[in-house]
Amino acid sequence: MYYSEELVEEIRSQCDIVDLISGYVSLKKKGSNYFGLCPFHNEKSGSFSVSRERQMFHCFGCGVSGNAYTFLMKYENFTFPESVQFLAQRAGISLPEESADGRMEEKEKRRKELLAVNKDAATYFYYALRDPSGSQGLAYFQGRQLSEETMHRFGLGYADKSGKKVIAYLRSKGHSDEAIRDAGLAEFHEKYGLSGKFWNRVMFPIQDIGNRVIGFGGRVMGEGEPKYLNSPETEIFNKRRNLYGMNYARTSRKDHVILCEGYMDVIAMHQAGFNQAVASLGTAFTDQQAMLIGRYVRNVILSYDSDEAGTKAALRAIGILRQAGLSGKVLNLKPYKDPDEFIKNLGKEEFEKRLKEAENGFYFEIAQLAAGYDQTDPDQKTQFHNALARKLCSFSQEIERENYLQAIAEKYFINPQILREAVISYAAAGMEKVEVKPRVLPAAQRQKEVREKKLTRSCQLLLGWLCDRPRLYRQLADHLKPSDFKEEPFVKAAELIFEKLDKEEELNPAALISCFEEEEDQRLVAEIFHARDDVLQWDGQEQTEDKQIGKIDQKVFREVLLSVKNAAYEEMAKTAPLAEVMACKKDIEKLSSLKIEM
Ligand code: CTP
Ligand code: MN
Repeated sequence: MYYSEELVEEIRSQCDIVDLISGYVSLKKKGSNYFGLCPFHNEKSGSFSVSRERQMFHCFGCGVSGNAYTFLMKYENFTFPESVQFLAQRAGISLPEESADGRMEEKEKRRKELLAVNKDAATYFYYALRDPSGSQGLAYFQGRQLSEETMHRFGLGYADKSGKKVIAYLRSKGHSDEAIRDAGLAEFHEKYGLSGKFWNRVMFPIQDIGNRVIGFGGRVMGEGEPKYLNSPETEIFNKRRNLYGMNYARTSRKDHVILCEGYMDVIAMHQAGFNQAVASLGTAFTDQQAMLIGRYVRNVILSYDSDEAGTKAALRAIGILRQAGLSGKVLNLKPYKDPDEFIKNLGKEEFEKRLKEAENGFYFEIAQLAAGYDQTDPDQKTQFHNALARKLCSFSQEIERENYLQAIAEKYFINPQILREAVISYAAAGMEKVEVKPRVLPAAQRQKEVREKKLTRSCQLLLGWLCDRPRLYRQLADHLKPSDFKEEPFVKAAELIFEKLDKEEELNPAALISCFEEEEDQRLVAEIFHARDDVLQWDGQEQTEDKQIGKIDQKVFREVLLSVKNAAYEEMAKTAPLAEVMACKKDIEKLSSLKIEM
């Protein structure tokens, strides 16, 4: 789907980026901007800023930036047209069905195709379970006490012994072998051709929050390895960003979700009326999943196995939840292993009771911590108190920290003042600093990367400076061309910027970003307007995005300008006609000696 630039801009301007992002990240006003924890990297310090004035976001930690569309593409994994559709719907603007030239985004076409394959496969498995040939699957689910209604609600299905029929069915629906393979439903072998990935298993279709089937889990009926077989990650199946059951839990109208480990647990809980249950997808809980939950509720009740591995996973999840600003509680299901078994044995009333008794996540953490120290040994006791102090530092809010501090001090018979002092000294030691691990690359590649990064930076700085200071642009205009910016997206960005500057029209950064459909390009262009902020930041000054148009050093400016121009020359020397190369050379000479009024 292709939308005109005017329409795209109209839609964007109807949506305030601070409102939009507030739905995903908790933001606090600081100066003229809003700050929060960056959803795109792991952090504790809140380097993610959103500017209402500029309608852009930027993270001082990991460098992501962009406008509302970029945010949606990154966060929701939307394509550009999907982001446009999303914001249009939010703003109540109706979109044309298909544009005149009928151009459809390649990427979106692919996603649609893979979703269609999955949908057809799910339909096939669904009917196979209800067919006489699927009786073994049906018996399995019945043996696990699932009702007809539950099986229907979760679209449960059956993959037969050979795994061939579903492929034949998908082909008959017009899907190409390539699409069937890329959706993760089959594997391709040189010798044997396409073979089904799932066979002799009961099938759990995995749906995203929009009820679209994005993948499958298949369980052996009874004992066998592997117990579950899951679809591989595909263009539409991201295990880190989705949660099983979230499509139902989001409309459950409860103030929390129950987070557990298994598909069967989710289904058993839903059947018992706990339709706020969700599970991660065969992998550890992630911060993107926490963020997904955070869009609907603030509280999570963890229901992990009570064994050592489960406890460890719960501790990890509590940390992730806290970082996402959510509160976690821990469910005690002893003597049973998981919700499914618990409900089968003790029933839903008892389960409801346990939900009410769920333990505060922080107390759970502390109890686990305490178990590791012998409280009768003075040395170990000191170590325990220090560990407690360190844990208390993880609360960024003072009131919250103080409340917990008092409660914990009372619970473990510690003088609160002493604990408080320990907390302060840990906080002062800067525990919360974010560690940046350098990537290790071969020397040559590293050099090339550094050079390219530097050039990218130069292009961004120069364009940013010219936007802020039309006066500078007018002095250079004769010797600088958009094509000097060498690589996309800067050539196009320069064209658009120079056009505005030539006409002396106001430039709108957020609108400029929407002229690019690729997320990476949007980021690079957005950074034009942040490059100088980062320079400020590097100088150790306060984080700021205000229009601080300080003075630029002429020497620095010329250096940046010439590095862009020289790179253009090098490139031209390889391919361009001699006359152009010579003209570029002349420009460089001119610019090297030009007296620039800063
Ligand atoms: N899992 C997986 N692959 C495996 C085993 C487990 O992907 N080989 C994932 C599945 O998402 C599963 C979850 O981990 O739902 C929890 O595993 P487990 O507790 O072993 O299974 P249950 O969900 O309890 O399933 P069942 O009750 O059928 O044993
Ligand atoms: Mn189970």
